[in-house]
Amino acid sequence: MSESPASTTPESSDTGTDGSTEFPRPVTPGSQAAHGTYRVQPVSFVRRGTRLQGRRQKAWEDHSEDYVIDVPRQVSDTSVHPDYLFDAEAVYGRTAPLVVEIGSGLGEAIVNAAEANPEKNFLAVEVYKPGLAQTLLKVASRELTNVRVVQANAPEVLSTMLPAGSVSEVWVFFPDPWHKTKHNKRRMVKDAFAPLVSRVLAEGGLWRLATDWSGYAEQMRAVGTDSDVFANVHDGERTGSESPLTEARTSGADCEVSDEPDAIGGWAPRFDGRILTSFENKAHKAGRTIFDLTFRRL
Ligand SMILES: C[S@@+](CC[C@H](N)C(=O)[O-])C[C@H]1O[C@@H](n2cnc3c(N)ncnc32)[C@H](O)[C@@H]1O
Repeated sequence: MSESPASTTPESSDTGTDGSTEFPRPVTPGSQAAHGTYRVQPVSFVRRGTRLQGRRQKAWEDHSEDYVIDVPRQVSDTSVHPDYLFDAEAVYGRTAPLVVEIGSGLGEAIVNAAEANPEKNFLAVEVYKPGLAQTLLKVASRELTNVRVVQANAPEVLSTMLPAGSVSEVWVFFPDPWHKTKHNKRRMVKDAFAPLVSRVLAEGGLWRLATDWSGYAEQMRAVGTDSDVFANVHDGERTGSESPLTEARTSGADCEVSDEPDAIGGWAPRFDGRILTSFENKAHKAGRTIFDLTFRRL
């Protein structure tokens, strides 16, 4: 997504807020940091461009009351007060399977899925307000009643806002890759993230992921595989010449160049509920390989 902050450098005010020993910060009891979710780990986003203009501003004015979850904050406008609990039945006015998309961007995937699956409830989680405003435009123009959006830092949504076991699917499609080694720690999908996803998923629930970065794809595969509460739905599938990782390594379009075939596999086929977003389209045009993964909550 061209508006993604992925290609920018971290804002200077983030420096030292990651709990590193270099810049230790006191942790206030009861604060987000005490819950281990806010700035005790590096955040996966860069704050920028939250001002809305034109159609997006109007969309926010016209539709936020209907679709935006008004979350009590504690630390910043993307934080979630740890005492706040999302009541899906009250919000959607019904009980239905809940699908949560983390980092929903401009809302292309979730709005399309919500329209195709009116029997399910959908929640878009995104820190980037202009992306959420764009999502509102789509939701309102299609008159959908099964979508809500929340401007919030995803780990906080997963660790305290959503009730445990209340979600049927969690989607993380094309999270910011933070591909420079010194920025890898900012990646959202890492070992500490898996327990947050497993906490909200019901037994048998699915965690679907996609990325166009082979190094991040391998990291995602390892995170799911190493967790004892997830099983890879496609364990052992698509190895060797069938593997997208082998393809990426030999394509020349990836930063990892190697002749070594992928012996592990485990890649899902493209999830047919995931439409081609403008972000993914750019990856295709650049000749990049797309990786899908699906883990089941045990
Ligand atoms: C590269 S974009 C992909 C957007 C969309 N999933 C797609 O495929 O088009 C990644 C998105 O994740 C959002 N994001 C990054 N870290 C986040 C976090 N901690 N909580 C919520 N959203 C986050 C970014 O603002 C950005 O919009």
